[in-house]
This record gives sequence, C-alpha cells and structure tokens, in this order.
Amino acid sequence: MVEDQIQQLQAAALARIEEARDRDALEQVRVDVLGRKGSLAQFDLGKLPSEERKIAGKALNAAKQVLASAFETKDQTFAAEALNSRLKQEWLDLTLPAPGPRPGSLHPVTIIQNEIEDLFTSLGFAVLDGPEVETEYHNFDALNIPPEHPARDMQDTFWLSNGHLLRTHTSPVQVRGMERLGPPLRMIAPGRVFRNEEVDASHEHTFYQLEGMMVDRKVSVAHLIYFMKTLLSAIFHREAVVRLRPGYFPFVEPGFELDIGCLICAGVGCPVCKQSGWVELLPCGLVHPNVLRMSGIDPDEWGGFAFGLGLTRLAMMRYGIDDIRLFASGDLRFLRQF
Ligand code: DAH
Repeated sequence: MVEDQIQQLQAAALARIEEARDRDALEQVRVDVLGRKGSLAQFDLGKLPSEERKIAGKALNAAKQVLASAFETKDQTFAAEALNSRLKQEWLDLTLPAPGPRPGSLHPVTIIQNEIEDLFTSLGFAVLDGPEVETEYHNFDALNIPPEHPARDMQDTFWLSNGHLLRTHTSPVQVRGMERLGPPLRMIAPGRVFRNEEVDASHEHTFYQLEGMMVDRKVSVAHLIYFMKTLLSAIFHREAVVRLRPGYFPFVEPGFELDIGCLICAGVGCPVCKQSGWVELLPCGLVHPNVLRMSGIDPDEWGGFAFGLGLTRLAMMRYGIDDIRLFASGDLRFLRQF
C-alpha cells in the first residue's frame, strides 16, 4: 500500500531530521526527502486507481506537512543555538569600570617654564617673546659681539641663506625688549634656541633657554645674586648648592657662571655633569655699557643685570633626566611621567 510506504518514509525522514547535527545536515535531509528528486517525489499518483489516488494523495500531503513543520521546528532550534552561542561570544560586561580617559600632560620644560614665569611675573617682570629666526644684528652685534669677534665661535650657528640665522640664545630678546620698552625694564624671555652641535646625552641642536634682564638705576651684583637665589630656591624647593665663577660673555661685565651641584649624582660625577659634580646652569652678569648704548639706553644713567637660564638643563636636574635627547623624542613612555 502506498500510504504505508509514505508512512515509513515519513517516519524515516523524521528520524533523520531528529538526528541532524547542523543546518547543512538538515538541508541535506530536506533535499533527500522533499527535493525534486527526493523520496516523496517518487510516487506517481497518476497511475493509481482514483480511490487509491485520493487516499494516497491525502497521505502524501499530510506527510509533506508533518515533515515541513518538523524541518521548521528543527531549523528554529538551530537558529536559537546559533544566536545563543553568538550572544555568549559577544557578551559584554556593562558593569566593568571603563578605562578612564587618558588626559595629556605638560612637557617637563613647559612645567618649569610656567613656574618661572609665575615667579618672575610676581616680581614685576614682563614675559616677552622673540623670533626664532633672528637677524645677525640682534643675535650678535647688538650684544657686543661684532663680526670676527672670537665669541661668535663660542656658539655654532645655523646660518640661513638670506643672512639671517636660527637664534643661538634667547639673549636677542633682551635687545628687542630694550628697543621696544626702554628703561626701566624687567623682562624674561623663554624660548627655543638652536646650535649646530654634535648631539649626545647632554647636547641637543634644539633646546630651551630663559633669558632674564633687569634695567634700572643703580643695579648691582647684589641685585643679581638676590634674584638668582630666589629663582633657584623656587625651582628646587630647597637651597641649591651653587658656586659663582667669573665667566666671559661679551654682553656682560662683569660676567659670571653660576654652577649648581649636580642633582642627578649629588656631586659624585655622572655623564650629565661630565663627572665634575657641577652643572653650568646660570650664566649671568651686569649688562655691558655697549649693549645698553646700542639699544638707546644711557649707561651713565641706567644699569642692569642679565642671565641666561638653560631651561632644558634645568628640567634634567629637577627630574633626574640623564639624556637630553628624551625631550624631543616624542616617546609617550617618557612624557606620561610628568
Ligand atoms: N646667551 C648666553 C648663552 O646662551 C647665556 C647668557 C650668558 C645670557 C650671560 C646672559 C648672560 O644674559 O648675562 O650662552
């Protein structure tokens, strides 16, 4: 009997559906059973006598419906499983604390520059800016360093093809300050300077200085020393060990080298202090009469002191940084420490 065959096929198909392990397997069963050449397509009902054909037709339709719904149910099971496993994989713990925002921080040189600016503005000094591309006049001549003066060789200069140069120090801003503001004058000028130098742990072609100048009536070495001590104790939050040596700079007379005991090695000797235990930190002096005169200030009426602080070197001392090349390295591991 055809119905019996259909029943058997249906039962076999249901068993295979039940056994199918994944969607591909299930699809294979569907093709085998319901496909155009599938097992249910083999019945040629047209050849049956009409009574039997009716019964067989009903059985066939019933079997198709049963199987279709069995396929559907199984398919939904697979879909649910797939969804579950995806949810498991993609599950997010929304109660985990978020990795907080990572704020930037100031560059160590900027930190020190800001502190010194605060200190000096509180003492009545103006903070001036000057060009990094300077004229020969402002960088040298107006500072009492005429052409052929041996002091020009003290600083290896990056000359530009138009005769200008990258300033080798912040001292030209003194000149611009005197020209623009006249006496009495209290100013500092932080900024980048450039030297055509061999780079090593303590030398860079680009670094930061801070120039300071005070012009007034009756300015003496005592004033200079007072301001330098105030400056250093503010920076190091303690009395720094210093020594004053005579120093030669064409734009000051007398000129001094103020050295500070190396804070990296505590005077024992290290690469930063070149094993000497001392670091040249603060060249300074009383402004040379020629310098005042060239900027239109009468040296008989006015005097002044000036100093040039190595901001980069100061940052090395303050933070115990033993390689100047780190400052412009852009290395975040370095920068994030400040
Ligand atoms: N401009 C000098 C330099 O870069 C530093 C300096 C020395 C500045 C003595 C001064 C000073 O104002 O009085 O080497």
